[in-house]
Amino acid sequence: MDFVEQVRRTHRCGELRGKDAGARVVLMGWVHGARDLGAQLFVLLRDRSGLTQLRFDRGTEAHAIGATLRPEWVVAVEGQAVGRGGNVNKDMATGEIEVVVERVQVLNQAATPPFVIRDEVDASEELRLKYRYLDLRRPILQDRLIKRAAVARVTRRHLDGKGFLELETPTFIKSTPEGARDFLVPSRLQKQSFYALPQSPQLFKQIFMVAGFDRYYQVARCYRDEDLRADRQPEFTQIDIEMSFVNEDDVMELVEGLMADIFKEITGQNLPRPIPRITYDTAMNLYGRDAPDLRFGMPITDVGPIFEGTEFTVFKEVLAAGGTARGIRVSKAAEKSRKELDALTAFVQGYGAKGLVWLKVQEDAVAGPAAKFLSPEQQLKLVEVMDAKIGDLLLFVGGPKKTVLLALGQLRMKLGPEVYPDRAKNFAFCWVTDFPMFELDEEANRYVAMHHPFTQPKPQDLPLLESDPGRVRARAYDIVLNGVELGGGSIRISTPDLQQRIFSAMQITPEEAQAKFGFLLEAFTFGAPPHGGLALGMDRVVMMLTGASSIRDVIAFPKTTSGTCLMTGSPSEVDSRQLHELGIKLEN
Ligand code: AMO
Repeated sequence: MDFVEQVRRTHRCGELRGKDAGARVVLMGWVHGARDLGAQLFVLLRDRSGLTQLRFDRGTEAHAIGATLRPEWVVAVEGQAVGRGGNVNKDMATGEIEVVVERVQVLNQAATPPFVIRDEVDASEELRLKYRYLDLRRPILQDRLIKRAAVARVTRRHLDGKGFLELETPTFIKSTPEGARDFLVPSRLQKQSFYALPQSPQLFKQIFMVAGFDRYYQVARCYRDEDLRADRQPEFTQIDIEMSFVNEDDVMELVEGLMADIFKEITGQNLPRPIPRITYDTAMNLYGRDAPDLRFGMPITDVGPIFEGTEFTVFKEVLAAGGTARGIRVSKAAEKSRKELDALTAFVQGYGAKGLVWLKVQEDAVAGPAAKFLSPEQQLKLVEVMDAKIGDLLLFVGGPKKTVLLALGQLRMKLGPEVYPDRAKNFAFCWVTDFPMFELDEEANRYVAMHHPFTQPKPQDLPLLESDPGRVRARAYDIVLNGVELGGGSIRISTPDLQQRIFSAMQITPEEAQAKFGFLLEAFTFGAPPHGGLALGMDRVVMMLTGASSIRDVIAFPKTTSGTCLMTGSPSEVDSRQLHELGIKLEN
């Protein structure tokens, strides 16, 4: 019976079709499940391409072995593909045939898996990550990783076709902490010195431009020691791009073309172009976030001017103190119960809002606890500015602008999919432009770069660089999909003196700048071309286009939110000898 030595696999488990009926086939794969109907035993055989139904007829030699098969055993079978006649299974790509097994060989047995290998799994994520190789057998995860590989393939094809060179940059680099925390690697050869793992290839790709490579890309691994969440991992992959002699439009056009190819490959849909552009200020004011979700409308409206004239002291006081009162309209939601409204109040309080004011739109009036403080004219005016209809629910928050926008921005993201479930599956891309160059680090009381310090300010804002850095806008742009930042980039500084002015605005002294970025500043003195670029977060792109809810579901071997690999048990202690060689002593 040891026939495997003599035969070759003829098909993958997802390949056979009705037209293959009659063919002799050899399949190999994992036992997915079995159904014993007495006279016939049916076994589903699985590999990454799909499933095939195997039939073992009672009384045959093959049946005797078939009856012993258990889930996840690895087997080879030889037999004939036959049509299923009236029993076609429309849910399976191979559903028109089954394979009548004549010879079967168990290639390997399997221990009972800790969870059943299928898409709807009730095992905890911890258990799945511990047995990631089993988790990865689940068709849904196989599909996502296959799509991930397709994204890399399409990216290379697209960028190669546009004259880009795939160039590598080092993963042991100089630590230049800006933005997130660096992961450090101790040097054995130079004790007390450390490499850092790159947060991105940013400085090297700029140096490639100085070196004349003109168009660079890399599918680059990046490392950031920051707090993790559903769309953040300590190591992640960027599709990193840099171009010389370009402006914002050139980079954005290139990325749109690339994104359209990726989008078509993964979703089968054409990406509507051009992708709409909105400024940072508009995004913040209308959607409360610099990564707006444009699927659901529901813009934020400033109702300060109306509440100012009312008797509603809660908002009047907020406005008098320099705050703002804003709201959103929730279509046809006036029937929400008190309990539901209380839950929404608790939700915005979670983002720092003091409370939530609600009004229900009725014919010629609004109803709700605050309604009595508004005259009939004020009520009508409110309905008008909110563009509301009878049966709508209006939700308002008052307070400092930052808190109000944060709370309402989150609230509309929460309510959007509930109010418009049919739009939840849509893809709404946008570009966000004109970011502020700096943001205030309140703890350190100094300005830090919002994108990174190599970003060029808008030329018209240069005069404000020393006098009012907070108002300087940057030549930076983000590409956003459904409220998630997929990528970001900018036109760079290419002269040492402007770079130095930016460092000064961030209170980085020339000596510090020299110590950290001297190599870049020096490179700029040798003829740097104007250049710019962008990096897409590849994990996020795959997550969003495959509908995964976490980037952990599109990374083969992800870390938990506490940075642990549950399969291998990293990070882990190391031997004292290893530490000794590195000249490192641990504190207890
Ligand atoms: P930025 O820091 O905006 O820009 O990063 C670009 C994109 O990388 C993704 N990303 C992440 N994905 C998963 N886990 C993380 N921890 C994580 N951090 C970032 C996001 C983000 O939009 N060098 C610049 C790019 C440039 O200017 O060209 C940079 O790294 O999708």
